[in-house]
Amino acid sequence: MKTVKLLASALVVSLLLSACHTNTSDETTKDDYMDEDTTTEATTTNATKGITQKDWGTSDGKQVHLFTLTNANGVQVSISDYGGTITSFVAPDKNGKKESIVLGFNNLDGYLAHPPYFGATVGRYGNRIAKGKFTLNGQTYTLATNDGQNHLHGGNKGFDKVVWTAGNMDANNPQLSLSYLSKDNEEGYPGNLNTTVTFTLTDDNALRIDYHATTDKATPINLTNHSYFNLSGDVSNTILNDWLMIDADRYTPVDSTLIPTGQLKPVTGTPFDFTTPHQIGERIAQVPGGYDHNFVLNKKDSSLTLAAEVTDSSSGRKLQVYTTQPGIQFYTGNFLNGSIKTDEGKPINQHTAFCLETQHFPNSPNTPAFPTSILQPGQTYHYVTEYKVSTIK
Ligand code: BGC
Repeated sequence: MKTVKLLASALVVSLLLSACHTNTSDETTKDDYMDEDTTTEATTTNATKGITQKDWGTSDGKQVHLFTLTNANGVQVSISDYGGTITSFVAPDKNGKKESIVLGFNNLDGYLAHPPYFGATVGRYGNRIAKGKFTLNGQTYTLATNDGQNHLHGGNKGFDKVVWTAGNMDANNPQLSLSYLSKDNEEGYPGNLNTTVTFTLTDDNALRIDYHATTDKATPINLTNHSYFNLSGDVSNTILNDWLMIDADRYTPVDSTLIPTGQLKPVTGTPFDFTTPHQIGERIAQVPGGYDHNFVLNKKDSSLTLAAEVTDSSSGRKLQVYTTQPGIQFYTGNFLNGSIKTDEGKPINQHTAFCLETQHFPNSPNTPAFPTSILQPGQTYHYVTEYKVSTIK
């Protein structure tokens, strides 16, 4: 009892110091010493609805910040202006225990070491463009080939590695807007692209992301968020027992370099059929390398609709992904191999996280049959994705 009191005082001090930011290392400290109920209570009392900000190091000689959004229920999402990166997403399990459900680090250094897009805003073009080339209005453009022979996630220095500019904030409103001007010819892309990504944490526990962009020359664009989810809150657990539903009757099969063949193939009778919930691990052995595929969402228009749902029975956490986009990349962390460690030193092994990246289909600039990913001058690119958390008993 005495120990609990002492540690509770230590926790209050550490909470004051961390000024509203709940991160993985705080949790480890708490988990190490505190019982579950005390942890939950302490986290809740600390949580005031709104947004806080702190300095978080520098990159390219620019000040980097970490912002923490808290909603009325004490759900918290931390986002850095370095890469527009979601560094933590703290949500309760079925017993009310709060843990981050995304891979992330407490310090900027973790990101400067270039983990594979953990939580990042990916651009100018998420996923692959075959051989780093595309032709637009009669001109051929050459991009970096940073993934074997292909271009991946915007090139050598994509939107995930630049410092964005935060817009005006209201301390009581858990909303953050980040802007970035990608100059003409940056990473080989045509046109000055003005991008704004707005993150809003709603009181129904959804992280809503609004993507906006305009350009002065026609350009491919495919912005997405690359959060790696582990709903158990602990990377010691794989995601293979999680139940997944994807509302897609078709997917885009790929060649050996992960470029879509151009077909839209029915999922029926294949390991890609998640139209009814299946455990991720049930048929993964039948998919060489694991899942890393774009699914063609069953939608008739660009309204905000449920695209995917994942449930982790042990923690009771459920994630729902809503989007206005035509596709979603389901990636099972196939290339994670334990070489990257969490702040607590735990190796991040293969299949310990999944990504659900809302998007246009990979290699669309070279596949005229796919929905166009070209933004024209005078048009406004706008789309919405929501990551909503809840629990089941
Ligand atoms: C891609 C994977 C890639 C991962 C990390 C995903 O969006 O589809 O092939 O390994 O991002 O870069």
